[in-house]
This record gives sequence, structure tokens and C-alpha cells, in this order.
Amino acid sequence: MSKPRRLIVVSNRLPITRIGSGAGSRWLTSAGGLVTAMVPILKRRGGCWVGWPGGTGRSQRTIDHEGIRLHSVRLSQADMAGFYHGLSNRTLWPLFHDAIRTPEFRREWWKPYVEVNERFARATARAYRPGDTVWIHDYHLMLVPAMLRAMKPRARIGFFLHIPFPPEELFSWIPWRDELLEGLLGADVVGFQTHGAAQNFSRAARRHTDAEGTDSELEGQGRSITVREFPISIDFDWFDERARMPESIAEAEEIRRLVGRERKILLAVDRLDYTKGIDHRLEAYELLLRSGAVNVRECVLIQIAAPSREPVREYAEMRTRIDRMMGSLNGEFSEPGRVAVHYFRRTLSREEVVAYYRAADVMVVTPLRDGMNLVAKEYCASRSDTTGVLVLSEFAGAASQLRQALLVNPRDTEGMAEAMLAALKMKKGDAKFRMAVLRSMVRRHDVHEWADSFLEALAA
Ligand code: ADP
Ligand code: F6P
Repeated sequence: MSKPRRLIVVSNRLPITRIGSGAGSRWLTSAGGLVTAMVPILKRRGGCWVGWPGGTGRSQRTIDHEGIRLHSVRLSQADMAGFYHGLSNRTLWPLFHDAIRTPEFRREWWKPYVEVNERFARATARAYRPGDTVWIHDYHLMLVPAMLRAMKPRARIGFFLHIPFPPEELFSWIPWRDELLEGLLGADVVGFQTHGAAQNFSRAARRHTDAEGTDSELEGQGRSITVREFPISIDFDWFDERARMPESIAEAEEIRRLVGRERKILLAVDRLDYTKGIDHRLEAYELLLRSGAVNVRECVLIQIAAPSREPVREYAEMRTRIDRMMGSLNGEFSEPGRVAVHYFRRTLSREEVVAYYRAADVMVVTPLRDGMNLVAKEYCASRSDTTGVLVLSEFAGAASQLRQALLVNPRDTEGMAEAMLAALKMKKGDAKFRMAVLRSMVRRHDVHEWADSFLEALAA
């Protein structure tokens, strides 16, 4: 049998993020779906990871983390402003999420985006050995495939987009749309979360570049490029096993004791991002309490939100809005010893998150738009006793796989409140049946299957 190719993962964010600088700095596990998915892949297969360690301080060029070699790419203050907070998170992120916030198009952000992509391409070329497979990730690095192709023409290069790819009508707003498409066409395989996203890309590529072909196979730059959906997933076994451990069971029991054992727990876990629909969810919960359909003696909402991209104005505004809504909900509905909502604005460890998943009767995952949403899958994997009900937005990529969830439109406040109530009141037998189907779906299509299918397409 031939030796498997060495894997080089390239993404903006590394699995650990440095907080602070100098002697007082410390490393934190990075929150976000990309890191959750890629860590188990590299742990199992071996290989290395090229990415940014967070912040603008100096850090070692290579770091060893849980057996994975990390090659760090530095960003300056100016890069952060133009490349990361600017073009990545104020142009591409909102535009690719249905323009939920108005995207901004500023020429001064484009230059740093190109420069940082070049830096990533050079760092990858340095790590590259003939025969390696390179797997580039996400919207921050859309130019890297073509840049690396120019440096290493014979490399096998894959690209996977973790977020939605918008319809051509929206995509064409971007003044640099041709360059971004040409950048992606440098890959041999371009992967998306959903079939619709893959189609949107192929249509945009045919319209704005010389590429020709079908939605799944394009000819461009003298090569053929496979375009397909590869729905990302999680390490099912890790969550399942962790949730069965005595520590998790005890921690979950302690959470239940602290909030009051007689109360049902609704749980939400998100990055604090305006795409996640945290405010819409709170409005639905408020409606439930106000209508008297439920009261704080019977149930409680726990919202855990990891702060994210705080220098971006829209994120700071969202944080303030959520803070205010939390205060208002508790001010109006809490009773002595029973708050309406517990709000933890922080990043927890994966183990702590699992304890909350285990404690929760109902998981409410209601993004306005989401590439996939791994939280929904993590909840199912953590319900090893097949209890618990998932309420899921139909606008998360996960909705096309997790059909036994209670699917909701997060913009329909009444509908969402009704679904939350139905979840709280669901008969045990119905809930068990649904959760068993959900769990077997996530178990069968786990992150290793995802990586295998992408890498097989790339090897073909
Ligand atoms: P995104 O990639 O947009 O953040 P996903 O739902 O796909 O959304 O992935 C989020 C990942 O980050 C999950 O693995 C989830 O467990 C983790 N996460 C989200 N919020 C927190 C938090 N407050 N503390 C710890 N981990 C979190
Ligand atoms: O999956 C979407 C994503 O943007 C990842 O690319 C990213 O790692 C994660 O969310 C967290 O965002 P950030 O890296 O900006 O903190």
C-alpha cells in the first residue's frame, strides 16, 4: 500500500489563541467550528497546521500542540484592521450570511487581504514537501489556492469553505469578486457545506471567470476542478464518551441542582455573533414567559456565549444589545432564587460544554444563517441516554441532515416560542425516538467520514 500523503492544514486561526503579550500571556483553546473539526483530524492523521496564533505579538515560529506541529503566521495591527476585522469580517462574513448586516466595501482593506493571503501562501510553501496534500480553509484565505499553485504547480490543493456561499446576485456585489473566484479556482477540489452553496459558487465562477463546465466539475486555468458539498461534522465518539464519564455526569447533576432540579433547562451555546440569532431566541423566550405558557418555577434558559471579533462594531453592538435584553428579562420575570436566564459571556472548556449539554432538556440552536452549526451535532452526540430535544433553525446547514429536530424559522418569534414549548412538553417516547435517529445520523456521518471523503476526492 502506498504511504498516505502528509497533510498540511491552512486556516486563519490556529487551534490555540494567545491572550495578552510577553510574560503574562497564556494560550486558550480557540472557539469555533473550524478548530473543533480539524483538531481530531490532525490528531488521527498527523501533519501540520499553518495559521495565526491570535493577537499581534511575537510568538515562536513553530509550536507543538497535542502532537500537532503549528507554523505561526504573524499579523500586524494594520493587517488585523484591514485583513481580519475589515475585509474578512466586515465584507465577506456579513455578505456570505445573507447580508444580515450591511457589508462594507473599502479599497483600503483589499490590499492587506491580498498581502496576508500571500504571507499564508509563502508559509505553506515553506512547510510543503513534494507529495504533501494541502487543505486550505475558509473565507479569510480565498486567494491562497491560486497563489500556492503558482509556487507549487504540482501540489494537490483542496479548499473548504466553512460558511455559506451566497447566491450570485449577492456575491456579485464584491468589487474583487473575479479575483476571489480565480483564487479558489487554484484548488483541485473546492468544498462547501451544502449542495446549494456549491451550486452558487459554480454559477458565479462561470459568470465571472473563464471557467466552464457543470455545477460539480469546472474546467479553468487549464485544469479540472471538482466542486461538491461535504457537510462537516464532529468527533462523535469524543462527545459520546465524554458525556458518559462519571465527571460529566456529576457536573451535569451539579448544574441541575444549582438551577433547581424541578426546572427544565433550555440551553444555547454560541459564539457571540449576530448570525446566531441570540436576540431572536431571547424574544421568543420572553414571549413564552409573558404569555404565561411557562414560568420560571418550571424552566430556565442558560445562554453561554463566547465573545468574538469584539473590535468589529456590529459585534460590540450585539454584545450590548444582548446584555440589555438579559437584564430586562431577568428584571421582569425572575423570582427569588429563580432567575429567568443565566448568561455566561465566556469561552468554556469543551469538557464544561459537554456537562451543560448533558444537563439540558432542550437545546435551542437558532441561527439566522449558518454554514453548518456544530453545536447542534455536539448536543446530539452528548445525549448518550437518548434523551433531550433539539430545536434547530432551518437556516443552519445542519437542518438538511438533522431532520428529526424541531425545525424553526428564527424570524418567526411566535413559531419559535411554540417550538420551544413543544420541546419542553414533548412526550418521552417521541423525544427518545427523535434523539435516537439524530444520534445515529451524527455517528454515521462524523468528522472522520467528512475528512476521508474530502481527501479521497482530492486524491482522485
Ligand atoms: P462557528 O464556527 O460559527 O462558531 P459552530 O456551531 O459550527 O459555529 O461551532 C462552534 C464551536 O465553538 C463548537 O465546537 C462549540 O462547542 C464551540 N463554542 C461555542 N461557544 C462556546 C463557548 N461559549 N465556550 C466554549 N466553546 C464554545
Ligand atoms: O466557522 C466559521 C469561523 O469563522 C471559523 O473560520 C473561525 O475559526 C470561527 O468561525 C471563529 O471565528 P474567529 O476565528 O474570527 O474567532
